[in-house]
Amino acid sequence: MSQNANKKLYIKTWGCQMNSYDSNRMADILRPLGYKCVDSPVDADMVILNTCHIREKATDKVFSDLGRIRPHKDTNKDMLIAVAGCVAQAEGDYILERAPYVDMVFGPQTYHELPEMVAKATGAYGKNRIVNTDFPSESKFDFLPEEQNVQGAAAFLSIQEGCDKFCTFCVVPYTRGAEYSRSVNEVLNEAHNLVQRGAKEITLLGQNVNAFHGEGPDGTVWGLGRLIRAVAEIDGLERIRYTTSHPRDMDDDLIDTHRDIHKLMPFLHLPVQSGSDGILEAMNRKHTGDDYRRIVDKLRAARPDLALSSDFIVGFPGETEEDFQETLRLVRDVGYASAYSFKYSARPGTPGANMKNLVRDNVADERLARLQALINEQQRAFNARSAGIVMPVLFDRKGKKSGQLLGRSPWNQSVYANGPDRLLNQIIDVKVTEGFDNSLTGIIETSEALSKTV
Ligand code: 5AD
Ligand code: SF4
Repeated sequence: MSQNANKKLYIKTWGCQMNSYDSNRMADILRPLGYKCVDSPVDADMVILNTCHIREKATDKVFSDLGRIRPHKDTNKDMLIAVAGCVAQAEGDYILERAPYVDMVFGPQTYHELPEMVAKATGAYGKNRIVNTDFPSESKFDFLPEEQNVQGAAAFLSIQEGCDKFCTFCVVPYTRGAEYSRSVNEVLNEAHNLVQRGAKEITLLGQNVNAFHGEGPDGTVWGLGRLIRAVAEIDGLERIRYTTSHPRDMDDDLIDTHRDIHKLMPFLHLPVQSGSDGILEAMNRKHTGDDYRRIVDKLRAARPDLALSSDFIVGFPGETEEDFQETLRLVRDVGYASAYSFKYSARPGTPGANMKNLVRDNVADERLARLQALINEQQRAFNARSAGIVMPVLFDRKGKKSGQLLGRSPWNQSVYANGPDRLLNQIIDVKVTEGFDNSLTGIIETSEALSKTV
C-alpha cells in the first residue's frame, strides 16, 4: 500500500467523550497511512462509524446509517466501510452477515491494530473481511501514537477504561471490558504533550474515571486525587476536569483535591441514576440515596461553589411512583446545574434484561417528562444566578453568529460573547449579562483583552 497517498477518511462518532477521544486516536493512527479526515462520506476512501451501545436502537441506527453510506460504495468500489465502537463489540459477526458491504468490524480495545486490519482488508493478496472483537492481552494505549492534534485549547485525555461495577442496566462492563488504568507516567507524558500543543484545559476521561488506580513512578498505586495533583503541576495548564465518576469511588483524597487544587474546575458529573434505595439496590449501585447526599455534602464543604450534574434512569423494572418521588426528592435536595435523564431500556445480556415488573411505557414517559421539567427548572435557575458575575471563560470555538465566540465557564456552562478571533483558545474574563436555559451571554470584561495585540 502506498504510504503517502492522499486518502480521505470520514469518521462518524456517537456516544460518550471516550468515543470522541477514540475517534481522534483512530485518525492519528491512520494519518501515517495517508488518510486525512474529511467531513462527508461522499468520495471517502474509508468510512468509520464509531458506535455507542449504551441505550436501545443503537444497532438499528448503525444499520440505517450503513444503508445511507452503501450507495457511495456502489460508485466507489474501493471504499472501506468499518464499524467500530461498542455496537461492533457487541454485534460482531452479525454486522458482517447483515451488511455484506461492510469490510471491517472492530471493538474499542483493538484500535492500535488498525494498520494491520486495513492492510488485510485492502489486501494486496486478496481482500479479507475483518471481525476483531478481542480483548488483546496488551493494552492499546501502549501502541497508539501520541495525540497529534489538539483542536482548540480544551483537550481530552483518556486515563482509564472499562468498568467492574456491573450496574444491572449497563452494557459497558461487557463492551469495554474490565477496568484498566494507564500508568501515571504515561498520563503525565501525554498531558505535557497536550499542553505543549496548546491545551489550557484537560479533561481526564474514563468510564469510571475515579476508580483510577494507575501505577505510579515509585511503583505504588496512585488514585485519581494524587494524579490530579501531579497534573496540576504542569505549567501552562490552567484547568482540569474529569468524567465520569461513580459515587462509591469518591474517596476522601479526591474530595480534598477539590479543596486544594484550584485548577480543578468547580463542576462535577456524578451520576446517581435514582433516588430510591430499593431501585439503587436493584441497579447494583452499592450505595443509597443518603450515601450520595453525604458525598455531595462533603464535596461542597471542600469546594463551596461546586456545581453538580448527574445521570438519571426512570422506569427501571419495579420502579413505583413512590420510588420515583424519591428521585425527585433527591434532585430537590442536591440541586443540579444540569443533568441527563433517560428512560430505561433493557440491554440484551445485562441482568436488567431478565427482570420482571416492567414499568409501562406511558408511565415511564410521563415520569421522564416530570423529571426533565424539574431538572430544566434547576438548570435555568442556576444559569440565571450567573447574571452579573464576572467569570473566566475559555473560548475554544467560534459562535454561530459572526464576531461571536463560544466558550465554557468554570461551571461548564456554554458562554457566548462578541470578540475578535484572536481571543480564541484563551481564558478571558467575561461579565455575564444573561442566563438562558442552556447557555449564558456576556461581555468581554477587560479592555486589555480587547486591545492586546497577540
Ligand atoms: N437504559 C437507560 N439508560 C441507560 N444508561 C446506561 N444504560 C442504560 C439503559 N440500559 C444511562 C445511565 C448512564 C448513562 C451514560 O446512560 O444513566 O449513566
Ligand atoms: Fe455502567 Fe455502572 Fe460501570 Fe457506569 S459504573 S459504566 S453505569 S456498569
